[in-house]
Amino acid sequence: MSKVLIIGCGGVASVAIHKCCQVSQVFTDICIASRTKSKCDALAAKLAPTTATRITTAQVDADDVNQLCALIRDYQPDLVMNIALPYQDLTIMDACLACGVNYMDTANYEPENTDDPAWRAVYEKRCQEAGFSAYFDYSWQWAYQEKFKAAGLTALLGSGFDPGVSQAYCAYAKKHIFDTIDTIDILDCNGGDHGYPFATNFNPEINLREVSAPGSYWENGRWVEIPPMSIKRAYDFDQVGPKDMYLLHHEEIESLAKNIPEVKRIRFFMTFGQSYLTHMRCLENVGMLSTTPIQFEGHEIVPIQFLKALLPDPSSLGPRTKGKTNIGCIFTGKKDGVEKTYYIYNVCDHQQCYQEVGSQAVAYTTGVPAMCGALMLLTGKWSAPGVHTVEEFDPDPYLDALDRYGLPRKENYNPVLVD
Ligand SMILES: NC(=O)c1ccc[n+]([C@@H]2O[C@H](COP(=O)([O-])OP(=O)(O)OC[C@H]3O[C@@H](n4cnc5c(N)ncnc54)[C@H](OP(=O)(O)O)[C@@H]3O)[C@@H](O)[C@H]2O)c1
Repeated sequence: MSKVLIIGCGGVASVAIHKCCQVSQVFTDICIASRTKSKCDALAAKLAPTTATRITTAQVDADDVNQLCALIRDYQPDLVMNIALPYQDLTIMDACLACGVNYMDTANYEPENTDDPAWRAVYEKRCQEAGFSAYFDYSWQWAYQEKFKAAGLTALLGSGFDPGVSQAYCAYAKKHIFDTIDTIDILDCNGGDHGYPFATNFNPEINLREVSAPGSYWENGRWVEIPPMSIKRAYDFDQVGPKDMYLLHHEEIESLAKNIPEVKRIRFFMTFGQSYLTHMRCLENVGMLSTTPIQFEGHEIVPIQFLKALLPDPSSLGPRTKGKTNIGCIFTGKKDGVEKTYYIYNVCDHQQCYQEVGSQAVAYTTGVPAMCGALMLLTGKWSAPGVHTVEEFDPDPYLDALDRYGLPRKENYNPVLVD
């Protein structure tokens, strides 16, 4: 019997909530709390007749620690699942510490206002010292390590697909397949088509920030940074077919480099079509991806937030999106002194996801691992006071849960490598 407070009720949270309600023997009570309570109420009303999980709802501004603490003290959850935005990670962690409750999320902290001078000073120092310039990094949440340990609480960071399952695949390869891993390539392919000229598959602001930033990868103990979209490869994905993919910076590279220190190179690639890239470059060139507020007819607006209002809501893409995603990791390394290669991945069908939970596969592949991460914490399979990423825990029960709840693994012991 567990009570879980779920913060956020967008595309990813909606899938996670559907999945929690399918495992009502563990998730006996959930409270869905978000900025817009009407969305929580609508989802609760839809799910209530289908599940034994008792669902309540609440309104909360998760930027406000006091509001969060009041809600947590009132509801008394065993776990807080942060499936709002990365902007809220630190306030929700603060509230969990103040109230003595475990925490988890699906993406690492980044600030909403990247012009904030206090944040910018820390960011610029980190860019110089670490050598990559993405707005997000683990340092802000790793700084909570001692506080969570001292409180005897666990914070699980980044239990989505990537980050999340990608790191569990690495832990699995390290535990079962290799003595030493030499290289890791994380390949994120979305072969789906929603029929719109341009739309993002999850929160546009977070998504466009990520893909318009310089790319970077880890090689021989240091970061190598490259201009945005300047390393392109082609790969023939199982059940999707050949796609162009581009090297991006991605948060799990940072934790994997720390936790599997022998790895010589870690790269992350994501597929993009030419039309997406052309739209994105155009929007960037005219300033629509900017996070810096401007004055427009007497109002202050943030260009990327205005763009978000114009673009299709990612949660509306479900009925239109056809095709599959294929996300996984290719490894090279050694076992008993012999060179080996290994590929572990999942293929997920957009329309099947829509039929099951009313969402497309990008939200599904994030929401299912969020539920599975919560399941690991609530059933005690993963327990370690402190702040941890997925690869620090035993991958076996997590991958078993993913197999069972909708994201089964596939394996290839002789994959084509990425050059
Ligand atoms: N690890 C992965 O593989 C992966 C992949 C994709 C996404 N993600 C992460 O998943 C998370 C959710 O993404 P999404 O696409 O579901 O986003 P979304 O559809 O925009 O939903 C965000 C939700 O958070 C709520 N929210 C925003 N600010 C809030 C605040 N101050 N207080 C309370 N609630 C607030 C929103 O409320 P409103 O309805 O009022 O706007 C909305 O319900 C993001 O952190 C994203 O980075 C991870």
